[in-house]
Amino acid sequence: MENRAQWGTRAGFVMAAVGSAIGLGNIWRFPAVAYENGGGAFFIPYLFALLTAGIPLLVMEFTMGHKYRGSAPLTWFRINNKKTEWIGWWAVLVAFVISTYYSVVIAWAMSYSVFAFNLSWGDDTESFLFSDYLNLSVDPGQTGSLVPGVFIPLLIVWLVTLGILFKGVKKGIEVANKIFIPTLVILFLVIVLRAVTLPGAAEGLQAFFEPNFEVITSGSVWVAAYGQIFFSLSIAFAIMITYSSYLPKKSDITNNAFITGFSNSGFELLAGIGVFAALGFMASQQGVGVEEVVSGGVGLAFVVFPQIINEFPALNGLFGVLFFVSLVLAGLSSLISISETYVAALREKLGLSRNVAVGVGGGAAAVISLLFATQGGLYFLDAADYFINQFGVAFLGLVEVVTIAWFVRKLNDFQSHANEISDIHLGGWWKICLSIITPLVLGYMMFDLFRQNILKQFDTETGNYEGYSDTFILFGGWAVAAFALVLGIVIAMKRWHTTTLDEKHKEVG
Ligand code: ALA
Repeated sequence: MENRAQWGTRAGFVMAAVGSAIGLGNIWRFPAVAYENGGGAFFIPYLFALLTAGIPLLVMEFTMGHKYRGSAPLTWFRINNKKTEWIGWWAVLVAFVISTYYSVVIAWAMSYSVFAFNLSWGDDTESFLFSDYLNLSVDPGQTGSLVPGVFIPLLIVWLVTLGILFKGVKKGIEVANKIFIPTLVILFLVIVLRAVTLPGAAEGLQAFFEPNFEVITSGSVWVAAYGQIFFSLSIAFAIMITYSSYLPKKSDITNNAFITGFSNSGFELLAGIGVFAALGFMASQQGVGVEEVVSGGVGLAFVVFPQIINEFPALNGLFGVLFFVSLVLAGLSSLISISETYVAALREKLGLSRNVAVGVGGGAAAVISLLFATQGGLYFLDAADYFINQFGVAFLGLVEVVTIAWFVRKLNDFQSHANEISDIHLGGWWKICLSIITPLVLGYMMFDLFRQNILKQFDTETGNYEGYSDTFILFGGWAVAAFALVLGIVIAMKRWHTTTLDEKHKEVG
């Protein structure tokens, strides 16, 4: 096997990590999550989750990837053999599942970038999305046939993503992010500047920032904050371990983690401001309160935004294109990182070439993603997304910190590894966050969530579609999660390809 691939420059790595973090989660999820969970007051649990779990875990994952120089499963194998390897596979399989539906949302955004030119969604944007575009005409749980309008852009999404992965770490992923991320930031700044200068913007921002302190005593608000931070920072699903395994030996870890964490939250805040300014504008045009126009997820990006764009005073089509192209760029740079987790893992486990691993792993994800491009695709997508965000990623984060802090007891080791090469030195706070605060808060949250979900009726995050039964999400979600866990354990039993383990992995420090 050739020497391990490496990023060309420090900026290249940071851009790729930021590109992975900034994604659909920042634009389509954060504004509505913050609004529904206390508005301005949401920033308290959000910042707590960022500072005590998000950034400390990011530092930990960067350290793991850099120290053990492997995909997530190989890294976990090097930590404590097969006893921990399965955690890496579990995370990779969660990433695999995410990639199958994440790609479909990017495909919708791609179609909408084209529709925006002549506002072809018309006046009734809701029925355009559900009936004309998605052709949602079956019951939840049924597939119906493939929808060509979704299938074609989905094919393009996979061709672009896998094409970039074929080219490798430096020539593919790094180059793509160096183009996508600056472009995204410029496009998005243009949109936000326009949004905040629209009439009614101030009311929108007031609705967004107005704190409702009562809600922050509720456990579900804290679950929402942690879920948002984990998904948004791309932690606990194998990505950041994989990306940092391509760092050269002399690299900064902690400073890069702070840059990544703060850039992601900065962008998230910017998205919140842009979205709520625009919602305030629409509410004022319609003479209603902001609370009547706000919606999350699919509804926000693909129903409400087209309506807002219809009402823009000028250059409607242009702003529509800018918004949906931003969504495509943010999504693609994240999808690349999500898919690289299984490409790297397959390569190392089976000794495959990059091209074969991209073909097999990416090809399988592309085929499964077709499920979400069927007439019933939206129901499956909403259920998968809800489940992954409520349980999947935060639960894996909990398993990860408890294993490292309490079972294999590696925190001291990681602290000295990171401190030896980084600008910012990790102190005792880092270990306290990971060994005590995060396990306690996440552990309690998970316990509470299981209790509630077993007792209570499910309510999907977007709440747009009637007709789910709890069993559809509960059993479907757990079946997939349990399958991923069992599959992870089974794959971990297979031996590593000999060249992978022969490859000298000199631990730095
Ligand atoms: N971190 C990526 C997002 O926010 C996955 O969408």
